[in-house]
Amino acid sequence: MLRTLLPRLPQSLSEVSGKTRNRHQPLPLASGTGRRFGRSALIALLVALIPLSVWATTREQAESAIAEAKQTREEAIAMGVTESPTDEMIEQAESVLPSRQYTRALQYAEWARRQDALAMELIAKQEARKASGEAAKAAVGTYQEPLDVLQGLIDRTESGYLTQSDQNLMMMADNPAQWTAMDGETLFEEARGPNNVSLEECDFGKGPGVLEGAYAELPRYFEDTGKVMDLETRLVHCMVTLQGFSPDDPEVAKRHGNGSDHMKLQTYIASKSSGFAWNPPMDHPLEKAMRDAGEVMFYRRAGKADFACSTCHSETGKRIRASVLPNKNVPEEWTKAVSWPAFRVGHDQVRSSQHRLRGCYWQMRQAGTVAGSDGSIAMLSYWTDAARGQPAILPDMKR
Ligand code: HEC
Repeated sequence: MLRTLLPRLPQSLSEVSGKTRNRHQPLPLASGTGRRFGRSALIALLVALIPLSVWATTREQAESAIAEAKQTREEAIAMGVTESPTDEMIEQAESVLPSRQYTRALQYAEWARRQDALAMELIAKQEARKASGEAAKAAVGTYQEPLDVLQGLIDRTESGYLTQSDQNLMMMADNPAQWTAMDGETLFEEARGPNNVSLEECDFGKGPGVLEGAYAELPRYFEDTGKVMDLETRLVHCMVTLQGFSPDDPEVAKRHGNGSDHMKLQTYIASKSSGFAWNPPMDHPLEKAMRDAGEVMFYRRAGKADFACSTCHSETGKRIRASVLPNKNVPEEWTKAVSWPAFRVGHDQVRSSQHRLRGCYWQMRQAGTVAGSDGSIAMLSYWTDAARGQPAILPDMKR
């Protein structure tokens, strides 16, 4: 610091005489008045420093620093900071008092106090984070706007995956998938198909027409079909059996794109689970069997690239180019990964879980999955189970 206060010294003779100054050389910055000012500032500083060094530290100052350190120690112990080197540091401070090393004593005491203050700050932060996590958990099970869910996750989890795109976060409130969901609501309530009935009679697991939180508990076992079904498969089932569509009718067969009935309906139904904790039931043996089969698939390496899902999704902070990949083992970030339907900005379309799954297999250069196949539902069972307890973000928005 002193260096910057010192008046600038001439660098060369030519600078002093000013005779042979090259036009390209910068002018010396300190002008005559500047130099004078710099010198007087320096003198003032030295005058101010002298008394400090003469008086140094008094015994009183050292003792009061030690007392303060002890007090902070007590507070820290009360907060649970038991294992700490500070006891020793305070002892050291006291041990040098008899030999009148007051400055040193003060230093030790100050270090000890800071050490405890820092430990307490960390504990306070941890507790605040826990509390906000608890609050978010308490809210799980009631509807929350997708952006609020995401913000809550970001507040209590450090995740490069969740925060990788400021633009996405900013656009979340105007997620185009919200329009798709609104179209879906109209379609859902409309009497349609040869049987001219609405989907309000369809049971997604919580009783006919009950949508609140229903998607967060899928895939699940359905008595009426004897199968574990995901949202898409269940929707097909109801369109065919309730409304009387044929599986080949475009209403049922067309699964992708903003304009498809499927994406509208799925987005609407899923949006009713935003903020609900993922909680696919594991009561029926088939539910467990499907989840377990999905687990095997997740870790099985195959194909010409010899990839498994776990190759890319089981470590934190893995990237492909600019994309931070979600880690399946961190439920707070995995919940966003499995939050589909989502508007994919790069596709300019709302996409489904089944669409994502197909994309992942394509990415691994493995055979395409068939939507509604046991294999696809097994994987969705497993990936939903991995996000268990965390709130769903529906509809989500992705790159
Ligand atoms: C070669 C690496 C790789 C493999 C292998 C892979 N993925 Fe992915 N996965 C990605 C990339 C890249 C994304 C897109 C991330 C993005 O767009 O930001 C992604 C996205 C996802 C997402 C959605 C997350 C999001 O943010 O959009 C899920 C869920 C997912 N993968 C599951 C799987 C499953 C299940 C498998 C195995 C069947 C699998 N992945 C295999 C690289 C991989």
